[in-house]
Amino acid sequence: MVTMNRNKVVIVGTGQVGSTAAYAIVTHGLCNELVLIDHFMEKAIAEAHDLDDGSEFQDRHVKVHAGDYDECKDADIVVITVGRKPPANSTRMAELGFTVGLVGDVVDHVMASGFNGVIVMVSNPVDVMAWYAWKRSGLPRTQVLGTGTALDTSRLKTIIGEETGLDPRNVGGFVMGEHGNSQFTAWSTVSLGGKPFSRFLADNQDRFSSVSTAEIEEKTRTRGNEIVAAKHGTNYGIASTVAGIVQTILWDERRIVPVSTLLDGEYGERDVFLGVPTELRANGANEIVELDLNDDEREKLHHSAELVREHCEGLL
Ligand code: 2OP
Repeated sequence: MVTMNRNKVVIVGTGQVGSTAAYAIVTHGLCNELVLIDHFMEKAIAEAHDLDDGSEFQDRHVKVHAGDYDECKDADIVVITVGRKPPANSTRMAELGFTVGLVGDVVDHVMASGFNGVIVMVSNPVDVMAWYAWKRSGLPRTQVLGTGTALDTSRLKTIIGEETGLDPRNVGGFVMGEHGNSQFTAWSTVSLGGKPFSRFLADNQDRFSSVSTAEIEEKTRTRGNEIVAAKHGTNYGIASTVAGIVQTILWDERRIVPVSTLLDGEYGERDVFLGVPTELRANGANEIVELDLNDDEREKLHHSAELVREHCEGLL
């Protein structure tokens, strides 16, 4: 049973994603103790020192140190970020062959420590890796989740903000499915200021006649790939996403976030992890919110499910 005394987070992998996620966790003061694990111990030690060095100027002191897998034993959350710098003009799914061995090894070590908290998978392809970690760890489905389409949903809101000049936090709704090219914007769920987005545009034609939902969706889908092409990876957006998910779980906030979670009949799918709105609690991913998707959106979700399931086949 996961306790409510939640104060220790472990990050495995201290590359750009892991170390920026660590920085986001430290600057938000989300936990008492943050442990960094890396194949290269010296890198983990250096990142931990660098993060801890600003302690005087942080709002709250998060004790950061490097460690080994024994540290996972009493951790509330283990964030897995292992992988390589993604190549330009590739897909997240293409990382599977490289990542799967690393993730399998990490999950075995984490579980050997006696860990019984929540795994937050970040490594790509995240939906496949979350499923794999769930199967391999033997943990209950609530205790393994991936970052899913949480970042894509944040990107959608940011891009709608850019296009309309309004604060992204006015936007509601979800990007769903694979955290990859088959993702889709569930437009039937998207609202601005409480109004369905299509209605908002129609009612404000004078201001927003040039705004195109097709373009917004495409920009949302390709934003990550464009950043990867220009700077060989993404780190800030995913780090904020990880910190948000960690906060929601550690503080038992019960926010609904489109993390990658196991579908067990919801949306007519089984045995697949996909980004769907999910209530996060102290013990991880709880109830999935089943939205009234239209036929086109259901078909797109099904397409993502088929693709992800296909890539899970033969991994165990
Ligand atoms: C991202 O979307 C590349 O999956 C990474 O930022």
